[in-house]
Amino acid sequence: MSAGEKLRLGVLGSGKGSNLEAIFRAIHERHLPAEVKVVVSDVRDAGILAIGRAHHAHTKYVYPGESRARLDRETERNIVNLLQQEHVEMVLLAGFMRIVGPVLLAAFPRRIINIHPSLLPEHRGLRAWEQALAAGDGVAGCTVHYVEEGVDTGEIIAQAEVDVLPGDSPEVLHARIQEAEHVLYPEVIDFFARERPFAV
Ligand code: GRF
Repeated sequence: MSAGEKLRLGVLGSGKGSNLEAIFRAIHERHLPAEVKVVVSDVRDAGILAIGRAHHAHTKYVYPGESRARLDRETERNIVNLLQQEHVEMVLLAGFMRIVGPVLLAAFPRRIINIHPSLLPEHRGLRAWEQALAAGDGVAGCTVHYVEEGVDTGEIIAQAEVDVLPGDSPEVLHARIQEAEHVLYPEVIDFFARERPFAV
């Protein structure tokens, strides 16, 4: 890897893939110097796989194992192989709903990042925008952070705030947070692609 080359990305997701779409938009329209090499999902019909296919990335469904919360070791080894075959340098979690374990973390130390729909350390875990509404927060937002074994606990890289407005429903607040995600995640990837803070 050297400066000037595109940063080779692997993306793991379980959902509709709007963050991946935003990353492709930044690559095509704003010259984000990155390339999505492979998109991996633990959900066979996830929208994120269709988005990857539409943009000519390799896509792969992996059987996640028996646990609803975690990947089993065998699945992690499969994912590591897929990522290494594509010479992936950095792994993005974009709505990946299973906890990443030690096999993946060891293969990509400080090279796996996640986007979470709250201003961490507030509101870790599921449906963070509902947690923000329940807490009566006036400000919500999103966080990009390094992934470690804890859930939503890794070192914070960047955050973006959005207002919580009177009368916001969970859906409306979530949509506003997602708009901020679609700006923040490409910005962070752009930083990694240009600065290569992990380059050896
Ligand atoms: C995002 O809201 C992200 O913060 C959370 O999962 C959601 C993924 O959405 N981790 P999408 O699949 O990128 O649309």
